[in-house]
Amino acid sequence: MPDQRDIKKNQIEDNTGFWQEGWDKGFTGFHQSEFNPVMENYFNEKDISGKNILVPLCGKSLDMLYLANKGANVIGVEVVKEPVEDFFRENEIPNMTQEDGIYRCQLDKGSITIYNKDFFALENLGNIDYLYDRASNIALPPSMRKEKYYPTIKRLINNETKILLLTMDHNGPQDFGPPFAIKKSETTEFYPDINLDRELSVKAMDRFQEAGIKKIKRLIWTN
Ligand SMILES: C[S@@+](CC[C@H](N)C(=O)[O-])C[C@H]1O[C@@H](n2cnc3c(N)ncnc32)[C@H](O)[C@@H]1O
Repeated sequence: MPDQRDIKKNQIEDNTGFWQEGWDKGFTGFHQSEFNPVMENYFNEKDISGKNILVPLCGKSLDMLYLANKGANVIGVEVVKEPVEDFFRENEIPNMTQEDGIYRCQLDKGSITIYNKDFFALENLGNIDYLYDRASNIALPPSMRKEKYYPTIKRLINNETKILLLTMDHNGPQDFGPPFAIKKSETTEFYPDINLDRELSVKAMDRFQEAGIKKIKRLIWTN
């Protein structure tokens, strides 16, 4: 993820500018060149044909392709334009249309719509069957999660929405990031019906090691 130390913009004062600069400078270590194995494992056996899956702060995640190829209608939201355009170009997706910052394509089974918009400004995306959050809420500092991210999520999903949420935690400063640590109590407060499925303790990334954070916990949540 962008390293706050290498970016001129302050994420809290100008979140969009911060991420734009991160993409411009190539601080995109969060991007995975393969499908996320936890996501694959979760959706593998499910019939998600025709289901609407929200992928907030989607970047150019390949996971959107996996889900759409299983028949889902994927709704991604990404504020920076380059990753949105890269996503369609790099994956050679034909017949993409774009109007007012909304990119759409129909695949053989499912579809992908990416809103090149500020997630926090969205009011309603219709019925959301699944929420898939990988590297999304942990991309945001604590105050922004509380004041902007969770209220937006609450607005867009409903009581029936199934959630797959991947977070991380460590014992270092909570304002060190992105990615940011999130305490279990924060997740259970904002998603009251969520359960912790798995918790893995792994060696922290180099940048975290340098800051004295040796281990991080990866947490997998579902409802
Ligand atoms: C850490 S990346 C994770 C991307 C993706 N979820 C993945 O797994 O590869 C966070 C992404 O959120 C985008 N982003 C940050 N704030 C946003 C906002 N307010 N609205 C929409 N996208 C945002 C950034 O540009 C960045 O691409």
